Amino acid sequence: MRLAIIGGGGFRVPLVYRALLGDDGPARVTEVTLHDTDPGRLRVIAAVLAAQGSSVRVRATTDLDQALAGADFVFSAIRVGGVRGRVEDERVPLAAGVLGQETVGAGGVLYGLRSVPVALRIAERVAAVAPGAWVINFTNPAGMVTEAMSAVLGHRVIGICDSPVGLVRRAARAAGADPAEVGFGYTGLNHLGWLHSLTLHGRELLPGLLADEAALASFEEGRLFGARWLRALGTLPNEYLHYYYFRRETLAAARDARETRGAFLARQQDGFFEAALAEVDSPERVHARWERTRLEREETYGADARAAAGDAAPRDSCDLDGGGYEQVALALMRAIATDRATRLILNVRNAGTLPGLPPDAVIETVCEVNAQGAHPVPVISPGLAETGLMLQLKAVERATIDAATTGSPEAALRALALHPLVDSPATAGHILAAAGWPVSG
Ligand code: G6P
Ligand code: MN
Repeated sequence: MRLAIIGGGGFRVPLVYRALLGDDGPARVTEVTLHDTDPGRLRVIAAVLAAQGSSVRVRATTDLDQALAGADFVFSAIRVGGVRGRVEDERVPLAAGVLGQETVGAGGVLYGLRSVPVALRIAERVAAVAPGAWVINFTNPAGMVTEAMSAVLGHRVIGICDSPVGLVRRAARAAGADPAEVGFGYTGLNHLGWLHSLTLHGRELLPGLLADEAALASFEEGRLFGARWLRALGTLPNEYLHYYYFRRETLAAARDARETRGAFLARQQDGFFEAALAEVDSPERVHARWERTRLEREETYGADARAAAGDAAPRDSCDLDGGGYEQVALALMRAIATDRATRLILNVRNAGTLPGLPPDAVIETVCEVNAQGAHPVPVISPGLAETGLMLQLKAVERATIDAATTGSPEAALRALALHPLVDSPATAGHILAAAGWPVSG
């Protein structure tokens, strides 16, 4: 099978390649084509891959159609505007007094405004050049980008995120169960979902976990939200819900932080790519540098949120290994290619799973995957508060897609002002002006 990785010069691409090298199952990927608009990044990442192994052939190109031709699977993992764009997405809202974060709040809307048009163009090229390919979308904000792409590709685009599977894994361990053995119920939108069931051989583990103080203190989401709030909710929220449930505390922590995550990564990533390009002819050295940089990135991930919650514990060793980002993608490809029914938490069209949301709205939910694609499994209806939040955020996502595709300043204003973490047309207007968007009215 042939895999095209769009955003092939991305820092986390070697995680995917490492997973492919370790795959000795049927229908494995034998050839990878990396596509990126930046030839320097392509050279660096190709060098990291060369040091990892050679049993999966690697090609690199800056020509999108060439990368897509003949692909069975396409991973789309781009960062439109690069890490510099992220710095601005986080800085501009913070300066206006609201949260500045990569995918949540005003930052996520600004990022979506930039990403959607580019993702749509990729979808159109896939439809033209590789109409039989499955697209796995990693590009953030993953829910809204997947929804935009699904207008072109229908069920052939599936969005993924490592956050829900990470939550399942951490919760299972905290409950004393093997993550590979547990069943799970999870639903919501991307970066806005809830784990409402965790079972082992049919036995529900969640109430016992929520009642167990020590078990809750043993994993990240348990410490982030605290036993009291988790018991009141009766579910385990995705880590990104921390920005909603603790909006004042997370905003204060972001303001107090020495620098934003984006600013840290801009420095770290620019430093990495520059130094790596200078030593690109020594793949082993580039690989060692990549590994050091990756570990530092994982160790510091979510530091603001953890600071806001007063959580000083180091991250789980499994999260430091990459957290499962690549494993979700591999499991998804394998399930489609081998038609072996597999349950995964994915971003797909709602299709009646949550009656409160439109059928073509992309949601993040447990799916059964086979050769025909990812099919959401029925879920217990979420509560009013969860449904309300999802509806509100879906309205934000749709207004963002509208603004990104039409350029409408009114839609952009709606997208920002309707976001519960912005919550003001005046602030939304300031943010749009500062981000260089034409202002309406
Ligand atoms: C998690 C999320 C991704 C997000 C990433 C940010 O993996 O699921 O959607 O992009 O964290 O990590 P970073 O190291 O870039 O802050
Ligand atoms: Mn994610």
